[in-house]
Amino acid sequence: MASKSHGVAAELSALKGGDFLSSADVTANQINALFDLATQLKKGDRRIDLGNRVLGLIFTKASTRTRVSFQVAMARLGGQTVDLNPTVTQLGRGEPIEDTARVLSRFCDVLAVRTYAQKELLDYANWSSIPVINALTDLEHPCQALADFFTIKEEFGYLQGKTLAYIGDGNNVSHSLMICGALLGVNVRIGCPAGFEPSSNILNLAKQLLVEGSTIELTNNPVDAVKGANILYTDVWASMGQEDESAIRKKSFKSFCLDKAILSEADPNAIVLHCLPAHRGEEISAEVMDDEASRIFDQAENRLHVQQALLAALLGGL
Ligand code: CP
Ligand code: NVA
Repeated sequence: MASKSHGVAAELSALKGGDFLSSADVTANQINALFDLATQLKKGDRRIDLGNRVLGLIFTKASTRTRVSFQVAMARLGGQTVDLNPTVTQLGRGEPIEDTARVLSRFCDVLAVRTYAQKELLDYANWSSIPVINALTDLEHPCQALADFFTIKEEFGYLQGKTLAYIGDGNNVSHSLMICGALLGVNVRIGCPAGFEPSSNILNLAKQLLVEGSTIELTNNPVDAVKGANILYTDVWASMGQEDESAIRKKSFKSFCLDKAILSEADPNAIVLHCLPAHRGEEISAEVMDDEASRIFDQAENRLHVQQALLAALLGGL
């Protein structure tokens, strides 16, 4: 019979040379294999040297965690990163993606792209001959979701049957949580104000991927969303690019702050997650961020371990 480590390697080898543009681009087995590798890397039980591979970072939006975790992950894999911020490259002067992507494919081994439209990311993937990773778009944040479910698995030891309640905006983070949760057999409840629901296309995609017996539910009532849940999750009410809607959104989301009262409705052993950056006192109270239920900073750290595993798999360094 094949050993477990052999099974993990086989699952991960299928990812070699591919893109990671959506949470739906990987299977549950591949995600669990990435988690096994990330655990080994985190514990220091495994070292992987990719030998001078280069990751290009094309970030049109601000980033702390994603940028730094990718940089450190590449350094730990014996490679390096180049910062291709569009304001300092010809991208900012309108060089087309079809040309940029083909040129960068001659210099780099993998690209991580953070931008607005998912279509732009798909164009990079289409014109690149190297793997392209979604480092956040308006539609999805799949690297974040991997770290989130890794953190949950670390906490509880398993995922299937757990209930995650996300309260707030039906945004990129909520989309990747729904898809990834559906794949992993985690029940996902989304609680958001009317008019701020997740994309119906993503909701339908997630429903198609649901493991038998698990559920995705949508409500406009934050208390109904969190009742008895094992994981409470929130994110900013105005994402990057929506700054001019901040004031109006604050009014619509007023009853969706993840505070102690909301936390008290969850399972007594519930944990709290937030992808960060957070607005303390808006979508989450400072008290809850610093509560003993919070795993927010472990979650941030896990971006590094999971992305290191992802890079190793996409670059075939196993
Ligand atoms: N959670 C996250 O993606 O953080 P950054 O915007 O700092 O990368
Ligand atoms: N929804 C947020 C996530 C930031 C990591 C945004 O897109 O700005």
